[in-house]
Amino acid sequence: MPRRAALLACAGAVALLPGCGGRIEVPVQDAALHRGAVLFNERCSGCHTLAAANARGSKPAGQTKPGERTDGPNFNVRKESVPDVLFAIRNGGFSGSIMPANVVVGKDAREVAMFVARYAGRHRPGSGQSSGGQGPSSRSGGP
Ligand code: HEC
Repeated sequence: MPRRAALLACAGAVALLPGCGGRIEVPVQDAALHRGAVLFNERCSGCHTLAAANARGSKPAGQTKPGERTDGPNFNVRKESVPDVLFAIRNGGFSGSIMPANVVVGKDAREVAMFVARYAGRHRPGSGQSSGGQGPSSRSGGP
């Protein structure tokens, strides 16, 4: 079945494609926000975590030791405003030392900023993420 092949292809590509193991949570109908999420996944997910964009680049939760130099703030926890995100994009973070400046520009930068401002800070610790029942439809029943 093609589905099996697709699963294998996905497993092989996981290291290259951050989007493979999860999904963008922003509805496609919200065109600008969705584009912002996709851009965030492509350009920012190496260093930042934000579940809505399926990005896991920050230091893992619970890790107290210093992580990699490029571990940026976790936007599941930290709330951001549009001007702050635009500032960080233009200047390379707030410190200007690690995050590269202008990873996205113009309309792309605005869409990423809108997306981050809307979705950041949603998963504060203790807020308890409930995983809705998905049903068994994605199970493959053997050969
Ligand atoms: C190479 C890793 C790297 C990439 C890529 C990166 N960042 Fe960052 N970012 C960081 C680090 C490290 C910090 C914290 C230090 C600082 O603020 O300068 C940071 C800080 C920030 C901040 C400030 C957060 C705060 O409240 O202190 C924002 C907002 C931000 N990044 C957004 C983005 C967005 C949006 C993108 C994609 C367009 C992006 N970053 C890409 C590493 C990165």
